[in-house]
Amino acid sequence: MAETDREAEVRARRDRVGGVLRALREIVVEHGHIDRADEHVVADEFNLSRAEVRGIVSFYHDLKTRPQPGVQVRVCQAEACQSVGARELTARVETHLGVKLGEADETVSLDPVYCLGLCAQAPSMMVNGRPVARADLCDLAEELPV
Ligand code: FES
Repeated sequence: MAETDREAEVRARRDRVGGVLRALREIVVEHGHIDRADEHVVADEFNLSRAEVRGIVSFYHDLKTRPQPGVQVRVCQAEACQSVGARELTARVETHLGVKLGEADETVSLDPVYCLGLCAQAPSMMVNGRPVARADLCDLAEELPV
């Protein structure tokens, strides 16, 4: 049987530093999410059971298993950000976007993140991969591409 494109992609990643986790992360970056067929390919290439790969995928929140909306917002919930108003910021962002933390609709997702490395400039959030330091709702309105 001929090798599929996805099998070739995963095979090329098999012997690199980072192993299975890096391969799964790169599938998300390149294809937006990991589907069941991807899990099977990764299991075969890394000589793991499908249950092991499923366990990894389900453990890491960033390993998305469904297509993601065009706007992805993450608000830091870790201690330094909490100490300067992350919970209040989160509540305002939820109201502004119309989705609760950890939820998504067709256009936007709102997820927690636990430290973006911007603790000295907290509270912090990320909009479509772009970090926002000393975030407030005005920043979100400016950052949102919708
Ligand atoms: S605790 Fe929020 S960026 Fe570090």
